[in-house]
Parts: sequence; structure tokens; C-alpha cells
Amino acid sequence: MTKDTPVLEIRGLHKSYGDLEVIKGVDITAKRGDVVSLIGSSGSGKSTLLRCCNLLEDSQQGEILFKGEPINWRGEGQNRHPSDARQVLRIRTNLSMVFQQFNLWSHMTILQNVMEAPLTVLKRDRDEVEASARKYLDKVGIADKCDVYPAQLSGGQQQRAAIARALCMEPEALLFDEPTSALDPELEQEVVRVIKDLAAEGRTMLIVTHDMRLAADVSNQIVFLHKGLIEEQGCPDEIFGNTRSERLKVFLSSTRQAQ
Ligand SMILES: Nc1ncnc2c1ncn2[C@@H]1O[C@H](COP(=O)(O)OP(=O)(O)OP(=O)(O)O)[C@@H](O)[C@H]1O
Ligand SMILES: [Mg+2]
Repeated sequence: MTKDTPVLEIRGLHKSYGDLEVIKGVDITAKRGDVVSLIGSSGSGKSTLLRCCNLLEDSQQGEILFKGEPINWRGEGQNRHPSDARQVLRIRTNLSMVFQQFNLWSHMTILQNVMEAPLTVLKRDRDEVEASARKYLDKVGIADKCDVYPAQLSGGQQQRAAIARALCMEPEALLFDEPTSALDPELEQEVVRVIKDLAAEGRTMLIVTHDMRLAADVSNQIVFLHKGLIEEQGCPDEIFGNTRSERLKVFLSSTRQAQ
């Protein structure tokens, strides 16, 4: 791999649930430091695409390459699955996911939540993991919440804990699925600030979002999905300032009305 090899590359990806084809041939490239936002109407396939990227979902056709390394498949079509469990684990832990609903363990403290996967999945040294968990909790602004349980935190704090947990895996890229959608507007801003800091640090990120301001502020590439296909893509200036497709114009005007 050279320094220009993309962290993540998707080529001609197709994904169906039974007879329903949800992703119909999508190409996406994220180089190191890219922030790619995926936008589009509900049901356009954004979450599915993100979940295919880190192999939480199978796909039937097309290639997924992580740092130039293609996923090894066995079988074809509906019977296609990754063939190398170790490769899947390695790649998934390098593409760390942050979900809309945080998904923290309710019976563990915040510190334990952040330490869990590095200890059990990566089998890293406990002291080292604890030091890095505290560092990331400090980074997202909740160092004082190490010893409390998720239910004792606001939604914005829980989401920041979930981001610290993703960072503690020391991933090559972060994948966000609507990280701010479950939050009230003022809590949303706490999380937006953290995501902006990560972008400014040069983290590679794929972000599914309904928040056009977030997409405009942090992305260098925006992908507009429509019914499982890329309808338009470009930098924020192109997408918002020089919109070409009618569908994207309609989508953007509907999101402006919703605000
Ligand atoms: N597990 C599943 N089984 C069957 N169909 C599914 C499944 N998950 C998603 N779908 C379908 O796939 C399509 C794309 O769904 P997806 O969740 O990727 O959309 P989305 O763009 O993330 O939408 P939203 O903005 O509402 O989150 C939808 O038609 C949805 O009903
Ligand atoms: Mg979704």
C-alpha cells in the first residue's frame, strides 16, 4: 500500500434483502483524511451502505477494499459471504462504527464501556487501554463521567462516550450513522463539535447524516444517494452551491423546509 492508497474503497457494490435491491452499484473512495458524508431520503440505502462497508451486512456483488486489501469472498450472489473471519474482525475493528442510538452497555460504567472492546477483542494491555480510554473521554469532554453508568448521562454525553469508545479501538476510519439524530438541538451541538474536531485532526470518516449544515461544515466529499444509486456527488460547494440534479434540488429544499 502506498500513501495514496484509499483507506476504504467500494466498487460496484450491490446489496439486496431478498428480492429487494437496496444498493444498486455504488462506488465510493475515502482516502486518508477524507470526510465523506452520505445524504439522501429515508430508505435510500445510506445505513445499509455503511453497514456493508464494515461487513455488518453481506453484499452480493462488487468489491470492498480496505487499504488496498480486497475482502475475500466465498460463494456468489445471495450465497456470497466473507470467507476469512480474521480478516473481517481486523477490518471491522479498523472501521469503528458510531450508531444513532449510542448502543452503550447499560450495566457497565462509561470507562468500562470504552475499555471493553480493546480488552476483549484486541486483547490489549489493561493499563494501556485504561490510559487511552481516559484520554479519549477527556478529548470528548466527559472525563468526569468515567465511573457513572450510561443511564446517568444525557444523550449528548452518551453519544460522546460512544465516540470515545470508537476512538479507543485506534481505528483507521470512523463510520457514523446519524450520530446526532436522536438528540435535542442543544445536545446535538456538543456532538457536532466533537465530530468537527475529529475532522480537523484529519481523521478519515464516513458520516450518514440528515444534518446538511454538519455535512457542509465537515465534509470534503458529499454523496447523495437516491434509491440505492449515487445521484450526485461532489464537494460541499458543488452540492449546495451548484446543485445539478433535480432530485438533489428537491431533497435539499425539503430538508430546508424541515428546519
Ligand atoms: N434488515 C432489513 N431487511 C429488509 N429490508 C431492509 C432491512 N434493512 C433495511 N431494509 C430496506 O432497505 C432500504 C434501505 O434502508 P436503509 O436503512 O439503508 O435506508 P436509509 O437511507 O438509512 O434510511 P433512513 O434515513 O430512514 O435511516 C429500505 O427500503 C429498507 O426498508
Ligand atoms: Mg438509516
